[in-house]
Amino acid sequence: MTTPTIELKPSASPLSGAEREAILASPGFGRHFTDHMVTIKWTEGRGWHDGQLVPYGPLSIDPANMTLHYAQEIFEGLKAYRRPDGSVATFRPEKNALRFQHSARRLAMPELPVETFIEAIDTLVRQDRDWVPAHGGEESLYLRPFMIATEIGLGVKPANEYLFLVIASPAGAYFPGGVQPVSIWLSEDRVRAVPGGMGDAKTGGNYAASLLAQAEAAGHGCAQVCYVDAVEHKWIEELGGMNLYFVYGDRIVTPSLTGSILEGVTRDSLLTVARDLGYTAEEGRISVDQWQRDAENGTLTEVFACGTAAVITPVGTVKRADVEWQQSGGEPGEVTLRLREALLDIQRGTAEDKHAWMHVL
Ligand code: COI
Repeated sequence: MTTPTIELKPSASPLSGAEREAILASPGFGRHFTDHMVTIKWTEGRGWHDGQLVPYGPLSIDPANMTLHYAQEIFEGLKAYRRPDGSVATFRPEKNALRFQHSARRLAMPELPVETFIEAIDTLVRQDRDWVPAHGGEESLYLRPFMIATEIGLGVKPANEYLFLVIASPAGAYFPGGVQPVSIWLSEDRVRAVPGGMGDAKTGGNYAASLLAQAEAAGHGCAQVCYVDAVEHKWIEELGGMNLYFVYGDRIVTPSLTGSILEGVTRDSLLTVARDLGYTAEEGRISVDQWQRDAENGTLTEVFACGTAAVITPVGTVKRADVEWQQSGGEPGEVTLRLREALLDIQRGTAEDKHAWMHVL
């Protein structure tokens, strides 16, 4: 694998400081983008080449671009945080780089070297560092690396050209209510991913597959949909774009990776953070019936969703076809909030980084 250098071609007219500060005061999620982006090309026979940092802007795409037709696309999500001394750090970028390689293999795309993935992110964050929100709040700079096929043609095959990009977006809370509990619709008929499919790859197709059930969840008054396995339609898998944790007193359990669940970086980090705090943290199988039963008999004390965008978000109301119940009386649970603070303290640089997760720029 070749590792291209990234040529800097900065914008001649970035947003003014005042315009940027107005956005940072209330960024929302995924609505505003920084001044630059990184692009790197891949061509069969040549490998990775033409790395550039350029002004953020539209791409010119041929209508017969293969990605538009056959969805050969993968992406990642990670965040950069402002530290107390004003420096900036990203959280576990090599973990995202490795998952990006895993997704690339599944979609028959070229693998980007880990060091190039990290260098591309570092280059963009260094250039647009003024876009990293102030230390201490909920805000951070969300980074979105992604890769698309760029070959033109309608034959179904792996493309012979690709474009890797990184864009950045200042981000506040993913859910409008912040840390308020979200409601979940249990989708027991529609599934997100199947065994042998691409559920463990981070590709746009999985998110497209989740949208109809997500719309149905909204129709039931819920913020998120929870998927079950595609074979027995009974084992909890994940939400449309987040993993789940179940709290049984001082034991936390997340669904085991089955091949159709995305291996979340936050999910993985929490197994470690929870053990550091003295909890028992496990992977296991939880059925929909068990969820309902354990919630009703009170042994299941809390449930929360986790992901880069969502951080840790408590689950409140849970609905299935003919019944609904409340987790933690509809309030954020104590364990959920403790884990959330512990993880955010590491990410913001106010707690010891004993697992060397922070990549300081
Ligand atoms: C993330 O948490 O980074 C995700 O990719 C979830 C979603 C925003 C698509």
